Amino acid sequence: MTTTTRTFPLAFRRFRRLRRSEALRALMRETRLSPQDFVYPLFVTHGANVRAEIPSMPGQYHLSLDQLPREAEELRSLGIPAVLLFGLPAAKDESGSEAYDPDGIVQRAVRTLKQAAPQLAVITDVCLCEYTSHGHCGVVSGGEVDNDATLPLLARTAVSHAEAGADIVAPSDMMDGRVAAIRAALDDAGLGHVAIMAYAAKQASAFYGPFREAAGSTPQFGDRRGYQMDPANSREALREIEADIEEGADIVMVKPALPNLDIIARARDRCSLPLAAYNVSGEYAMVKAAAAAGYLDERLVTLEVLTAIRRAGADIIITYHAKEAARWI
Ligand code: PBG
Repeated sequence: MTTTTRTFPLAFRRFRRLRRSEALRALMRETRLSPQDFVYPLFVTHGANVRAEIPSMPGQYHLSLDQLPREAEELRSLGIPAVLLFGLPAAKDESGSEAYDPDGIVQRAVRTLKQAAPQLAVITDVCLCEYTSHGHCGVVSGGEVDNDATLPLLARTAVSHAEAGADIVAPSDMMDGRVAAIRAALDDAGLGHVAIMAYAAKQASAFYGPFREAAGSTPQFGDRRGYQMDPANSREALREIEADIEEGADIVMVKPALPNLDIIARARDRCSLPLAAYNVSGEYAMVKAAAAAGYLDERLVTLEVLTAIRRAGADIIITYHAKEAARWI
């Protein structure tokens, strides 16, 4: 209650008028979350009856193929339309050959999901790092990741995912020219209907730590700063996004999300393509750890984080929180 005593001149605005009840706040709300905006990442592995929790990512699992129909059913019931697949191969080698094996773990997972849940959109991460013995995202020669030698392997990987039935392929390697190479290879293979979601502005971020543990993809020497972006650069991020659009990306992504709300907002202003943001493993792990310690209210913080990413301008949020957030919305 405000007692109107006109001791002030009326020189200020009463914003609080519209915050007085949940009904008024709901009417005024500019940004809403929906489970339909979420993409849920899945880690698929060989074997049977595997449902192994990832220690640094509580609530996330390595799943064998037999677990996928149940997972798809849960996502359907929650209204989450899409998954992003990562694979743990049976073996790693210099050139990451399981990445483009037609019978590799991701290719088999795509077929399993498409059969069990045809309504689910299946997106696949296209990269070599989970499959190479050295853990880098491309072919290594002379101690360096060889950009142009990597492109045909990425294209082959994307085509094998698309042939298995993927709706969208998502290159995350940060080689230059990979979107063009993948688009050409898909079109040549008669897969013109398959879309590309480019990890366009992907930084060399310490926030991927838990994922690398989950995917066993920590580089065995050096780091990824020679191909992933310097987190200090936002104009360069916009150039990366422009380049991927020119090369034929259908969706562009900024990653990680929370440290890059400025880049998401600038990308939103500049491009009319669907924009995705990846709320990565370290962002998830921070919330989980703080909540477990009793330092934060997990539900409120999670929804605040996801709302901020949407408000900055992302249409699509790739997030490990998808299932719990869908229940909380
Ligand atoms: C593969 C890839 C990574 C992530 C997505 N795709 C790891 C990396 O680049 O090191 C990170 C996802 C996450 O942290 O949740 N290149």
